[in-house]
Amino acid sequence: MTLLDAFNLLFVFCCCIFLSYIFFYLNAYSVKWLACTAKDFLCAIFMTIVYILKAWFNFFYAYHKDLKNEVVLLTGASGGIGKLLAKKLVQKGCILILIDIDNFGLEEVSRTLNETFQQQVAYPFKCDISNYEEICLIKKKIVETVGNPTIIINNAGVVAGKYFLDLKPKEVQKTFEVNILAHFWVLQLFLPHMLEMNHGHIVSVASILGLDSFAGVSEYGASKAAAVNFMKSLRQELRLINKNGIHCTTVLPFHTSTDMFKGFGSRFKNFFLLKVLDPDYVAERIIDAVERNQTTLYIPKILYVIITLLSILPDNSYDVIADFFKVNHSMLTFLGKK
Ligand SMILES: NC(=O)c1ccc[n+]([C@@H]2O[C@H](COP(=O)([O-])OP(=O)(O)OC[C@H]3O[C@@H](n4cnc5c(N)ncnc54)[C@H](O)[C@@H]3O)[C@@H](O)[C@H]2O)c1
Repeated sequence: MTLLDAFNLLFVFCCCIFLSYIFFYLNAYSVKWLACTAKDFLCAIFMTIVYILKAWFNFFYAYHKDLKNEVVLLTGASGGIGKLLAKKLVQKGCILILIDIDNFGLEEVSRTLNETFQQQVAYPFKCDISNYEEICLIKKKIVETVGNPTIIINNAGVVAGKYFLDLKPKEVQKTFEVNILAHFWVLQLFLPHMLEMNHGHIVSVASILGLDSFAGVSEYGASKAAAVNFMKSLRQELRLINKNGIHCTTVLPFHTSTDMFKGFGSRFKNFFLLKVLDPDYVAERIIDAVERNQTTLYIPKILYVIITLLSILPDNSYDVIADFFKVNHSMLTFLGKK
């Protein structure tokens, strides 16, 4: 037998194995099942192409929904980004349910808004959202005074600002309670009404540190990663029960110049591609994303490129970028909110 004959024999043998596998497969699963799977597969490809084209279209032009008369529940309303969100939402014609632990700041924001717009547009509710019982109590008051919210913005956040081994259990617990557990409690109380109406919008102000973190923000990064994934799961649950009138937006901003990360030292604070963000710009982009029903929002836009690159480059490339920007030393000068 020549070498060629041996190859021919091997080829025939492989073909027999393959055909018997197909035969076995067809027997095991009906032809109908296979046809159905093929149809679903082609549909998935078609819809992916449609969504890619839609995303491109939205990049240049997108439908902006009207926020007039929407009732917005905003947590962390007296902080840097929250305060600006409140002002811009009132300008859009929304009624605001403002929540914060800082009673003084909260009263000031509400008073300023109500005086500026010469009518009651903002209702302040002092509440520690890390306390489940307090949220339940405040829910009753909110519904009695203003009604149920149609937009919920989980914006309140805290950070301990310490390296991992310096963190105290209470600090870790607090960050998780405010940055993610409160999202569960607030939404479990207010989502049922949105479901009844099949109308609403849920916004989570997470952080880019929820995707890629560095030294000194372990508990914060972990809580924000939880917030990002919570929103992904929640959105799929809403799709599963066909509640297409309720939209979700997860916001992942880069370092913003509020008091939260005061003292954060970056090697290139004003590096032209990745500058420290102005909170006013962040608030503007968040509202634009809500109006567009955008699911994920990275701020600034360059993060779309950086995140894509980091997902295909070797893990060590992140180390190179982290070392270049000296981000692992950034929290050494951290002062935070006093
Ligand atoms: N500043 C940044 O660099 C940055 C970057 C990315 C994401 N974010 C996120 O943006 C959101 C807003 O941050 P910010 O920069 O405006 O910070 P901020 O500290 O100025 O505001 C946070 C607000 O949350 C409130 N808050 C804290 N704990 C609370 C509690 N237990 N109950 C009720 N309210 C509570 C605070 O009183 C404050 O008003 C946060 O979720 C933050 O994690 C901030």
